[in-house]
Amino acid sequence: MVKKKTCVFISGHGSNLKNLILRSRDNSFPIDIKLIITNNKKAHGVIYAKKNSIPFIIINTKFRNYENRILQILKKNKISLLCLAGYMKILSKNFIKKFGKNIINIHPSLLPKFKGLNTFSRVLQKKEAKTGCTVHYVNNKLDSGHIIAQKSFFINSDDNEITLKQKTQSLEYKVFPEAIIKMFRNY
Ligand code: GAR
Repeated sequence: MVKKKTCVFISGHGSNLKNLILRSRDNSFPIDIKLIITNNKKAHGVIYAKKNSIPFIIINTKFRNYENRILQILKKNKISLLCLAGYMKILSKNFIKKFGKNIINIHPSLLPKFKGLNTFSRVLQKKEAKTGCTVHYVNNKLDSGHIIAQKSFFINSDDNEITLKQKTQSLEYKVFPEAIIKMFRNY
């Protein structure tokens, strides 16, 4: 199997990145992580790039045309899949159009519910019975692309933002790799 050359975008802790790196060591896992991009020079997740000798690039999003620079880098590295794993910057319509359909994102809610930020507090406020996480294709509208995979759990009366985050993230480590496998099942 020819693995898809993949770039993972992060902004923070990088626990999903860490998990994807681990999974991609498996010969039967369809992607190879060749590059990591972050918009945050203090992103903790960069440590996983260093530990695994994967090249990483810190992008200064204050520069005009910074997305063109990213596109050039992706082209140079022959990247064909982008995984947004806690990347907290919105990609422009132009970027999405130029890169095509091969951009996926993980979001900590059961989309189409709770798009955007602060999902856990909003889930609690709305007294939802269930929550979870979603992997979806990225399109021009925030957190609105076609859903690839989702996992959910029931919320307990004593859950709070911290426990919801922990439970959601432990499901993320399952659903992100599963979504990638699903995408390339018939590849
Ligand atoms: C993840 O929970 C992911 O779902 C969320 O950021 C976290 C990153 O954690 N993404 C978003 O909120 C995107 N809107 P990580 O850096 O430890 O993987």
